[in-house]
Amino acid sequence: MTARSVQRLIPALAVSEGAGVTVHRTIGTPALKNLDPFLMLDHFSSDDPNDYLAGFPDHPHRGFVTVTYMLDGHLLHQDSMGNRGDLRAGGAQWMKAASGVIHSEMPQQSNGLMRGFQLWVNLPAAEKMREPGYQEFSPEAIPEIAGNGTQVRLLAGEYGGQTGPIADPHTRAQYLDVRLAAGIGFNRALDPAATAFAYVFEGSASVAGTALPRHSLAVLGEGDSVALTAGGEGTRFILVAGRPLNEPIVQYGPFVMNTRQEIEQAMRDYQEGRLVQSKASVVRA
Ligand code: FE2
Repeated sequence: MTARSVQRLIPALAVSEGAGVTVHRTIGTPALKNLDPFLMLDHFSSDDPNDYLAGFPDHPHRGFVTVTYMLDGHLLHQDSMGNRGDLRAGGAQWMKAASGVIHSEMPQQSNGLMRGFQLWVNLPAAEKMREPGYQEFSPEAIPEIAGNGTQVRLLAGEYGGQTGPIADPHTRAQYLDVRLAAGIGFNRALDPAATAFAYVFEGSASVAGTALPRHSLAVLGEGDSVALTAGGEGTRFILVAGRPLNEPIVQYGPFVMNTRQEIEQAMRDYQEGRLVQSKASVVRA
């Protein structure tokens, strides 16, 4: 086994999104434009309603998948497929925007903590203009595996003999939320063909001697495993892996295609009200 080390450490950048929601962004910043197959990682975390009340009113997406994981708080999702979904603490949502979706994500609280992640996962060229899809997973649908100072919530992939509910066949994505008590180590086999990263959102951790401070993303180098160790106050991080698509990426905001022409088409379609080509919600990856 070759343990992966930290290839790059990306501190989160505060970015204003939606109607003025402050998020901590790592993937999708000038320092890390994308991390094939991942296009963006936003961590939202605030107990100040001014940071999140404006929410994310109607906006479009085309060409990829959004995965939202709520840690605290309550968002209401509504989309052009006719889905209406409650995102509550511990739950997750997988939305394949593909040919086009317009949706909103609005806070259903006026105070308290709002915390979670949104990850954008790219789609291969052959999938970008297919029908959109939507799946929602309640907190209970996400397996929790605990033992030895370790607590894992399994969103995607396999761990401890269980399988996470989110399936992304094009990238074979794995997505774990890992909590470790002070000084505890966490070892995991990783697909050697996969891009992998860890993002620390509580406490601190280290990988092969490199410290990972809170709100930083560690891009992991080559290897078939990873070993993380919690710092003195314990830690909580997400560990995500997926196979790269190795296709050209042309992005303009919420549209991610393979060519400039396709992006121009997406912008025209949006301006002319043709972005949403299918209102059907297809529940498959
Ligand atoms: Fe969105």
